[in-house]
Amino acid sequence: MIHGSHVIVLPFPVQGHLTPMFQFCKRLASKGLTSTLVLVSDKPSPPYKTENDSISVFPIPSGSQEGKDPLQDLDDYIDRVYTSIKNHLPELIQDMKLLENPPRALVYDSTLPWLLDVAHDHGLRGAAFFTQPWLVSVIYYHAHKGSFSVPSSKHGHSTLASFPAFPMLSANDLPSYLCESSSYPKILRIVTEQLSNIDRVDILVCNTFDNLEEKLLKWVKRMWSVLNIGPTVPSMYLDKRLSEDKNYGFSLFTAKSAECMEWLNSKQPNSVVYVSFGSLVILKDDQMMELAEGLKQSGCFFLWVVRETEMNKIPISYVEEIGEKGLFVSWSPQLEVLAHESVGCFLTHCGWNSTLEGLSLGVPMIGMPHWTDQPTNAKFMEDVWKVGVRVKAEADGFVRRDEIVRCVGEVMGEEKGKEMRRNAEKWKVLALEAVSEGGSSDKSIDEFVSMFY
Ligand code: UDX
Repeated sequence: MIHGSHVIVLPFPVQGHLTPMFQFCKRLASKGLTSTLVLVSDKPSPPYKTENDSISVFPIPSGSQEGKDPLQDLDDYIDRVYTSIKNHLPELIQDMKLLENPPRALVYDSTLPWLLDVAHDHGLRGAAFFTQPWLVSVIYYHAHKGSFSVPSSKHGHSTLASFPAFPMLSANDLPSYLCESSSYPKILRIVTEQLSNIDRVDILVCNTFDNLEEKLLKWVKRMWSVLNIGPTVPSMYLDKRLSEDKNYGFSLFTAKSAECMEWLNSKQPNSVVYVSFGSLVILKDDQMMELAEGLKQSGCFFLWVVRETEMNKIPISYVEEIGEKGLFVSWSPQLEVLAHESVGCFLTHCGWNSTLEGLSLGVPMIGMPHWTDQPTNAKFMEDVWKVGVRVKAEADGFVRRDEIVRCVGEVMGEEKGKEMRRNAEKWKVLALEAVSEGGSSDKSIDEFVSMFY
């Protein structure tokens, strides 16, 4: 072990941020850099394994009420997480500085930009980790500077927003909070303030890869020096020959792996629609049923992740009627599912991890975005990367069953689907190239690691 080759990594404690930041630790470990992942959580740490003890997990309490799902009240959860970090992190850093291998940097979630000053106060370098793509961060940057005005109507296409190196965007394509600022003032402030001190950050890390955002990156790289290290998908899923890469992740949920795999194994290639809305999205009761009817009418097999807290929205009679046509699980081994040959389409909320995973594993998508960065990710998925379609919602955001049927038909079908599958295959190759030895993301990891030797 080399003295000082150690970093602290602090994700915001939701699955979509934990996953990429933990995988980042694994990449660092593969190059000899030790990390301590600080996890704000009241639950005992999920199981994890590390090679050579190069990743350790240090839990600090979030102070959530026992028995209460903290994510049911996101505002309250955010306050608790902030307080916990403010109360515990300084002492933790002080303690770690006494270690034989003390930390040299704090890699913090970009949604916690004030941690840059905490890092500096303790003599550490501050690295902001962006769990969203640049195409979203750049919009937040402009929003923070007040250098664009939000188009007038969320669902209207009359006024368009323009940014350097972007296609024109309607209100419907922008991150949701920019258009709904009155209902989520706290989250709007958090997402835009991510970029408030970007010019002072020592290292900028992003879960994306150069080829994916090529055009925009020309602009980004003129502004800042950035390290794109994605996709943070374990290599064994990108290339089946790389089976030696240990399959371990960091999940707050328990996946029904055997059930999913057994069911998928019994299906024909490209015959299944995989449906998942990530770890946070809550669908309204009527939307859930409309989607269920749409999936039924599509006639395709489907594997649907319905989190435990959502399952009461699906009547038992529906599940019985669907029978072998559909499998419902509370959490899936998503990468394994997407890599399975039976899966022909991914109906997703377009959270950034899911979008990147679909692209990297070559699976065409149906985007049904809900909030935050998801509408913008969905816009690029359809119009720029051309690997799927985005559902057309009614003026109030509701998506009708006919629209689900149309989208499934297009993506699973021969005419447009073929083109999407071809494009998806192209991105799969480019994603693997990026993370393979000498690829753009691999070089970024090397550059990061070299700063600590
Ligand atoms: C959140 C935000 O909603 C998203 O918009 C933002 O870009 C990142 O943080 P989340 O909604 O949970 O994340 O979605 P996503 O980014 O897709 O992350 C979910 C992760 O959970 C993915 O890595 C996915 O592979 C994993 N997952 C999801 C499973 O392993 N099993 C499941 O059943 C569902």
